[in-house]
Amino acid sequence: MRIVLAYSGGLDTSVAIPWLKEKYNAEVIAVTMDLGQGRELNQIRERAVGAGAVRCHVLDVREEFARDYILPALQAGAMYEERYPLATALGRPLIAKKLVEIAQMENATAIAHGCTGKGNDQVRIDVSARAMDPKIQVIAPARVWGMTRPEEIEYARIRNVPVPTTKSSPYSTDENLWGRSIECGILEDPWNEPPDDIYALTKSPAEAPDVPAYVEIEWEKGVPVAVNGVAMPLTELIGSLETIAGVHGVGRIDMVENRLVGIKSREIYEAPAGIVLHTAHRELEGMVIPKDLQRLKQRLAQEYADIVYNGLWFAPTREAIDAFVKNVQQRVTGTVRLKLYKGDCRVVGRKSPFALYDQGLATYDEGDKFDHTAAEGFIKIWGLPVETYAKNVRRNAKGVRAEQPAEPATK
Ligand code: ARG
Repeated sequence: MRIVLAYSGGLDTSVAIPWLKEKYNAEVIAVTMDLGQGRELNQIRERAVGAGAVRCHVLDVREEFARDYILPALQAGAMYEERYPLATALGRPLIAKKLVEIAQMENATAIAHGCTGKGNDQVRIDVSARAMDPKIQVIAPARVWGMTRPEEIEYARIRNVPVPTTKSSPYSTDENLWGRSIECGILEDPWNEPPDDIYALTKSPAEAPDVPAYVEIEWEKGVPVAVNGVAMPLTELIGSLETIAGVHGVGRIDMVENRLVGIKSREIYEAPAGIVLHTAHRELEGMVIPKDLQRLKQRLAQEYADIVYNGLWFAPTREAIDAFVKNVQQRVTGTVRLKLYKGDCRVVGRKSPFALYDQGLATYDEGDKFDHTAAEGFIKIWGLPVETYAKNVRRNAKGVRAEQPAEPATK
């Protein structure tokens, strides 16, 4: 048997290599993907082979991740429970897809990953993998083996498997181009303020520069294409916004969220680029589409976020919403100016050749084109139901009821 394992180089997936080999009498092929987690991956091959893998594929999937996963979610306005830009959730379907592709290439019948049995990530990877290939077997060793961390270390030591020697962090983290997720340790008490040392992408707002930064983001049909006049491919643009916004303390999120598996969990996120881009995109879209479409899109945004969060990326509902969103994006061209200051990200300017904002209609100054006389009739009809109701309530309060005919006699 041959198994393709998603390998991070951490303790769990390092121990998974000998465990899979023994338990399934299998050959293990490791796959490591660069989703922009910002870690050096050059020693990862040696490490996987050192742990007993026959070989290790290293894939740079940043561009695909940005183009096919982050961008549609950004354009859809997908924020889980209104706050989490879904970095981890968006990475999982891509990881699953690549695992299945490598499995097919390698003639492997199974894939494996390091997720536990309590989180959302196992759902996202398992469902996505089976959407790619319904016959593929999905193994999650950490869901099965029931070892504690010291037991894992002992398991590796007996087998001479080198495990990461870095002091184990009390937190569970996941990172990619779109942001960073932090959980566990003292964060499990939702009353505890997160200590500053859990953050890696953002400065504390208190230590951020005293001078604000202005960023101008240019959009073309819903795609951010330039920052402060410098055109950049999407991956670079996200990276550069992460740096600027991170320095100004923008993008920290502290929330208790509803997991798919029925648990409420306390989560800390860092999404400096995500917050800036969502803020700017929402603003520009609001300038160029009418109110009813804006409302409809907001409702679909919530739906979209749930779909992504709940592991259903490869579902037709997501594809259908994508088609709708793509249609709306045709007008989302223009520039948004934001001010980043001590953790705050604020839109201070917006412009677009497609703006439905019409100063001639909006102005209180000279040049007003709005027909004030039309307002009177409009208001009369608009308020008619309220007026009718209020009249009725008043009439009844004055004792109209007393004059009403008595209850009909029962037959
Ligand atoms: N709760 C977040 C989500 O479901 C983050 C998960 C983080 N994963 C991790 N292995 N630490 O998307």
